[in-house]
Amino acid sequence: MKLSTPEFRAMQSLPRKLGQRYFEMPIFRYMGLGLQNKDVLEIGCGSGYGAFLLNQLQPKSYVGFDVMAEQVELAKKKYPQFQFLIQDAEDLSQFANESKDVVIIFGVLHHIPNWRKAIDEIVRVLKPGGSLFLEEPRGVDIKFFDSIFRWGHPDTDFGLNALDAHLSKRELKIVNKRWTPLLTMYHIWK
Ligand SMILES: C[S@@+](CC[C@H](N)C(=O)[O-])C[C@H]1O[C@@H](n2cnc3c(N)ncnc32)[C@H](O)[C@@H]1O
Repeated sequence: MKLSTPEFRAMQSLPRKLGQRYFEMPIFRYMGLGLQNKDVLEIGCGSGYGAFLLNQLQPKSYVGFDVMAEQVELAKKKYPQFQFLIQDAEDLSQFANESKDVVIIFGVLHHIPNWRKAIDEIVRVLKPGGSLFLEEPRGVDIKFFDSIFRWGHPDTDFGLNALDAHLSKRELKIVNKRWTPLLTMYHIWK
């Protein structure tokens, strides 16, 4: 779902970039994120700062996509050297089965009405033994945050218990899970 104007602005801000660079990426690295010689897909790439950070890890290929055209336009303008697409995570039919080594999500599933479908699509495109690195806020924190900042997240049943249940249903293995005050971070194996 498209971001509200306040959230869109917040996603372009310096604090967001600092958080992604000095907090989230180091935790993912600690949890095993390495991209050398890997085919990488970033879901909900926003305006491309994640692409900038991820490409420092020298993947074999990188594709980032986002459902919001404004985000993808910004990403293409800022980082013309990387590949970005306008795409909905619920339908990844343009990516072949078992074609990606690593899928990365920086806080996107809680925006997707049918987030289980997005996970099912990730399972399809990941190679056997491939990794999903994922970070999401807790459902209760999203509601609390919205009551104060009015970012207007979609009203879905997303939450970490529901997420864990769906990962388990799809026989994905949580190899590492770290709680932080804003986000819970996962390394998951197919
Ligand atoms: C909270 S922002 C995070 C952006 C970026 N990953 C970051 O960490 O700064 C969520 C992003 O997910 C995108 N998004 C929402 N629903 C989506 C969907 N169904 N498919 C792909 N991207 C989606 C939004 O447009 C937005 O850019």
